[in-house]
Amino acid sequence: MEQTLVIVKPDAVANGLLGEVIRRFEAEDLTVCGLKMVWLSQKEAEGFYQVHQHQPFFQSLTHFMISGPCVAMVLEGEEAIRRVRTLMGATDPLKAAEGTLRRSFATSIEKNVVHGSDSAASATFEIPYFFSRLEILPKVGRGEIS
Ligand code: CMP
Repeated sequence: MEQTLVIVKPDAVANGLLGEVIRRFEAEDLTVCGLKMVWLSQKEAEGFYQVHQHQPFFQSLTHFMISGPCVAMVLEGEEAIRRVRTLMGATDPLKAAEGTLRRSFATSIEKNVVHGSDSAASATFEIPYFFSRLEILPKVGRGEIS
């Protein structure tokens, strides 16, 4: 089992897409084992995206990420990192495959609905950026709650 960090970005939350994004992940057997709504500060957005700090889009990206609440999640499943990225689609919605979240809902390469860790190393940095160990809960399977 693998865990990955997903952010439902401010554009998606503001446009009422939170439920649909979570539905698509759950429908593919990815389990939500951590979930919180956050409104990032400028410093927090810059820290999260520090790997992009020298990119020309960095300032615009962090400005967008602090424009409203987002929802951070830890998703767990077999090959969760790769499968979440497949469900999201390419960063640029014009290049994203049919049926992916970004193809369906993104309005630009920046306002692209959702973020997912791009590697195990990224997940190792990104998950604790949002969640303490106590906030990541074990999976309870179907039928286990009576
Ligand atoms: P994300 O998967 O969160 O990783 C970095 C983010 O930067 C990306 O999604 C986009 O929101 C944004 N991004 C990446 N490339 C560009 C670009 N060329 N122009 C503007 N924003 C970008």
